[in-house]
Amino acid sequence: MKIEMNEGRRSFLKSSSLGLASSAFPSLLFAQPGGIGSRPTPNFKPDVEVELTARKSYLPILKGRNTAIFTYEGRLIEGPEDTVKNIPGSYLGPIFNFVHGQKVRIYFYNKLPEPTIVHWHGLHVPQKMDGHPMYGISTGQRYVFEFEIKNRAGTSFYHSHTHELTAEQVYKGLAGLIVVTDRHEQALELPRGEFDLPIVIQDRRFTQNNQLSYVGNMHERMMGFLGDEILVNGKKSGVIPVKAGVYRLRMLNGSNSRIYKLGWDDGTPLTAIGTDAGLLEKPATRPYIMLAPGERVDLWADFSGRETGSEVVMRSLPFSGAMPPMYERMQGGMGRMGGHGGMGMMSASSLKQGAGFDIVKFRIGGKSADAMTLPSRLVPFERLKESEAANPDSPVPIAISMGPMAPKLNGKSFSLNRVMDFEKVPVDTIQKIRIFHSQAGGMGMGMRGGMMGGRGGMGMMMSMAHPIHMHGQQFQILSRTFDGNRADEYATVKEGFIDNGWKDTVLVMPGEEITVLKPFQHYKGLFLYHCHNLEHEDLGMMRNFYVG
Ligand code: C2O
Ligand code: CU
Ligand code: CU
Repeated sequence: MKIEMNEGRRSFLKSSSLGLASSAFPSLLFAQPGGIGSRPTPNFKPDVEVELTARKSYLPILKGRNTAIFTYEGRLIEGPEDTVKNIPGSYLGPIFNFVHGQKVRIYFYNKLPEPTIVHWHGLHVPQKMDGHPMYGISTGQRYVFEFEIKNRAGTSFYHSHTHELTAEQVYKGLAGLIVVTDRHEQALELPRGEFDLPIVIQDRRFTQNNQLSYVGNMHERMMGFLGDEILVNGKKSGVIPVKAGVYRLRMLNGSNSRIYKLGWDDGTPLTAIGTDAGLLEKPATRPYIMLAPGERVDLWADFSGRETGSEVVMRSLPFSGAMPPMYERMQGGMGRMGGHGGMGMMSASSLKQGAGFDIVKFRIGGKSADAMTLPSRLVPFERLKESEAANPDSPVPIAISMGPMAPKLNGKSFSLNRVMDFEKVPVDTIQKIRIFHSQAGGMGMGMRGGMMGGRGGMGMMMSMAHPIHMHGQQFQILSRTFDGNRADEYATVKEGFIDNGWKDTVLVMPGEEITVLKPFQHYKGLFLYHCHNLEHEDLGMMRNFYVG
């Protein structure tokens, strides 16, 4: 087992406080001449070749002065013309359209003034192609990604995964959408072309000079960044012109920590045809759908029969229970408090976590030519069984805890290359994984029954929702259980989960315990699991599985 690391990364790490001496992988080598991924592999024959450059730029987002942003610029070198679809006027990177089975080569250039690396969230690729922070490249360097698209049809997400800079780089604009199609999807009658719309939702905060402002203090970081302007596809427009027909809306929550409770303003239920990186077996209808950072949901939105000139609004409906009780109480009782109230539980954003607001309006123009019926069956769905797991009775734990200075997983903070014994997973197995809130290891330790009294004590007092993401293959949710605490708040979200599809990110509410079945096929090496609240991720709420 040898984990190599880039030249650029090496000097960066040397100067940082990360001790790697007691590595679980003593054979770890930092430097390969020229670095990993700096050259294409001669025997890899790509069907598609793309150039992707991360750079600083300026864009008009609000009226007045341009906003300084980071962005990905794409250019197709070889392959089908729709492979790279730029979104004009948006800081978001191009939409990549890939086909199952395609071999893809991406020449990635870092023209930012700081290190960076790209991760293909949702795609199942080898360790060296996965954008692990250890592969960060410095300014002026190149990383050549080469992988085969092994995914089924679905919507994925690429973004910066730079060591301790992920949140800020994504916030500044380093993110984009990946669309994968396959023959199963092609055989279905689904909305295509102009009727297949990306809806990337992000919240931002601007200074009076229209510049992006980011977290102010440690407390805000602990709770996660919240903005007060909602951007869709990198823009503030708020209105999308549509025809009176059926649309596929590929919703992605690309926010750092804001959770959305998607709902139509007129109470029409939502119909999902896909979750994260896969289509469902059959459509699922919910009164509202919870969408946590990193999650995607593909909606079947039928505007046919709506009047020309009318509008339908996608909202985030009010909910509670995602934040610690103290936060909920103070926000609920007093509204906007500014950044320094209480125990620092207040957000500097005027839009608290769980507030209700409009996300985007759809304005109906003319009629659509084609009528469409929602298929009752979508794709053949391979349901994983608990009996297929290598460890049905001893699930791999992912214990969530909130320490005074950092949220943790399994009682530990992130290490670039160290794994604990139970984080070692045999390749080509299906693992049962249990995600739960732990009182130990965090503030709960030694303070049980303290300030808050009763069950859970300090640990429960700090308990908040965490979107837990695992790299590599998609998983399936086996069970979601709730302990009954804060039940009134939980009632505001509980109907909004779609747990019977393929997932790579799952929202774990306070009091919830979730078990999943996850295949670890094809690739050995280090694969991350972490909280997709990006402030939490950068605070170290991330660990590695070592697949071997
Ligand atoms: Cu979208 Cu490791 O993240
Ligand atoms: Cu990922
Ligand atoms: Cu978290």
